[in-house]
Amino acid sequence: MPEAPVIIDVQDVSKLFRVGKVEAVALQDANLQIHDGQFVSLIGPSGCGKTTLMRLVADLIEPTSGRITVAGKSPKEARAAREYGYVFQAPALYDWRNVLANVMLPLEIMGWPKGERRARAEEMLRLVGLEGFHRSYPWQLSGGMQQRVSIARALAFDPKLLLMDEPFGALDEITREVMNFELLRLWRQTGKTVVFVTHSIAEAVFLSSHIVVMTARPGRIREIIEVDLPYPRDHETRESERFFELTTRVREALRLGKEGEGAVGGAASVGGKGAGGPAKTLAKVGY
Ligand SMILES: Nc1ncnc2c1ncn2[C@@H]1O[C@H](COP(=O)(O)OP(=O)(O)OP(=O)(O)O)[C@@H](O)[C@H]1O
Ligand SMILES: [Mg+2]
Repeated sequence: MPEAPVIIDVQDVSKLFRVGKVEAVALQDANLQIHDGQFVSLIGPSGCGKTTLMRLVADLIEPTSGRITVAGKSPKEARAAREYGYVFQAPALYDWRNVLANVMLPLEIMGWPKGERRARAEEMLRLVGLEGFHRSYPWQLSGGMQQRVSIARALAFDPKLLLMDEPFGALDEITREVMNFELLRLWRQTGKTVVFVTHSIAEAVFLSSHIVVMTARPGRIREIIEVDLPYPRDHETRESERFFELTTRVREALRLGKEGEGAVGGAASVGGKGAGGPAKTLAKVGY
């Protein structure tokens, strides 16, 4: 099977923040290629540069050095071309707009005709299981429902790429499991590329085709783990021996990273979607 094209290409990217006289290396020598159709999770301790990496890809900040392309374009061009939707940790909805109007907002900005943007927003709300809530206001919804509205909004203009920064971090475990199933279904149904930040090892293993393990101070990519669990994934997946092996594997990588045993930069290509075989470490250089 030919490998899917690279949609996100991060080459030797570093990001330094200066606060007064103090300099923080938020990200150091990051190299990462994400291929079309993959579901890639970023996992690592607080402050390891996960949000920084997402913000760099989304053109919300610029790298200190290195180069990023998104769908073959610069992040700025990709942003203008609406190549991606961004889901923030907090839903970031407009309280004075009802659910439908929130989802229609990006389409309004893009100048879609009224009828079309309405039809599209309704379709997206159906996709995330929120038909019947069009006229509700965000403050009338539960946290999980609000997050589904922001996912519908991010999907509304049909971006190739979905960037999600801890979208389920604030949810209780049961709602989170439901959202995991829904997101996985959506990803499989639409064939989009997803980059997903999480602190949960189990969530990362359950959802991802690949997991990028990061370490802090300085923020670096340590290892990329391929998740070879078969699809469809369901409750049984979580109870399988392979699931246990993979969560252990990720936990080990995080633990080793914390002990600072050779955090790595260097080349990291995320292999083709659905590749079989045992979990592979695709990036382990720089020792
Ligand atoms: N705008 C900023 N100004 C100064 N320092 C920043 C800024 N943004 C991030 N940093 C620093 O960069 C480092 C990485 O931050 P980042 O937000 O990317 O971490 P993270 O992995 O997303 O952490 P968390 O899991 O807590 O969300 C941290 O040390 C942080 O203090
Ligand atoms: Mg963050």
